[in-house]
Amino acid sequence: LKKIGVLTSGGDAPGMNAAIRAVVRTAHYYKIECVGIRGGYTGLIEGNFTKMGPRSVSNIINLGGTILRSARSAEFRTPEGRKKAYEQCVAHNIDALVCIGGDGTFTGALKFSEEFGIKVLGVPGTIDNDIFGTDFTIGYDTALNTAIDAIDKIRDTATSHSRVFFVEVMGRDAGFIALNSGIATGALDILIPEQKDSLEQMFETFEKAQKRGKTSSIVIVAEGEQLASTYDLAKKTKEKFPDYDIRVSILGHIQRGGAPSCADRVLASRLGFGAVIGLMKGLTNVMAGIRSNDLVFTPIEDAITKHNEINQDLLQISEVLAM
Ligand code: F6P
Repeated sequence: LKKIGVLTSGGDAPGMNAAIRAVVRTAHYYKIECVGIRGGYTGLIEGNFTKMGPRSVSNIINLGGTILRSARSAEFRTPEGRKKAYEQCVAHNIDALVCIGGDGTFTGALKFSEEFGIKVLGVPGTIDNDIFGTDFTIGYDTALNTAIDAIDKIRDTATSHSRVFFVEVMGRDAGFIALNSGIATGALDILIPEQKDSLEQMFETFEKAQKRGKTSSIVIVAEGEQLASTYDLAKKTKEKFPDYDIRVSILGHIQRGGAPSCADRVLASRLGFGAVIGLMKGLTNVMAGIRSNDLVFTPIEDAITKHNEINQDLLQISEVLAM
């Protein structure tokens, strides 16, 4: 192993910079050359490379976003695009890639490696926490903390005005952010894509809460929740309970930014380090993850096809504690 390329792709996540830093410095420690690829797979196709050394990743462990920039490359999804990317790897003597991102990133990496034999090692970086093979993904903890900070503030105003708030959090296909931020902020109800919810159930929850004298409520809705859009949920609730004063708040991309939490910095450092160690051991087409506090490698195929189950205890806790 002589030269590694590192890139970030797909939705950015706080802690990606800490992962880049760990890859670059671990490579340097083991005397492996490292280049940064700017703009994800688009940069790989265009040969937008920059030589990286220990000093080029100074003062970034605390920064949100990604210094290498990110993109969702349509061209890399085509055979022609991947061929161009391969030619760039050959021209720059890159024999392995560390790809930091989520399932889209890994799908591309796997295809590329199968077609051209370039070694690839995935590092899970997405706020959604929806990657199999790791207990947590880089960025998830920070996003949760950003979400609860915002929801706590919404609670202040919800209480003052005796209002019902529907707060939408991110999670295109997964309810991890919604379930955990909902429990952490004492939400009355939490709607997630993994669980079949009905309007009747939600209305029943409202009715019970009202009977107990509750005057304001927060319902957390995961972006990927299937029942109805967050605005429609609010509309239907108003039709059912005309007296309710209802507001909607979509937290959106603030959840993707900000300084990474301690947990995310440590996780990213472990996974970036682990990625280089994995490549040195000759591994390819695997993703580095942390499970039960151990570094583990999972086939990328599994990482993108299997799913982490929602913890049933958490579902029960959210129901029992909401009154
Ligand atoms: O993949 C992470 C995520 O935050 C999803 O929860 C969300 O649906 C998506 O990114 C939005 O990404 P973008 O606005 O960059 O397309």
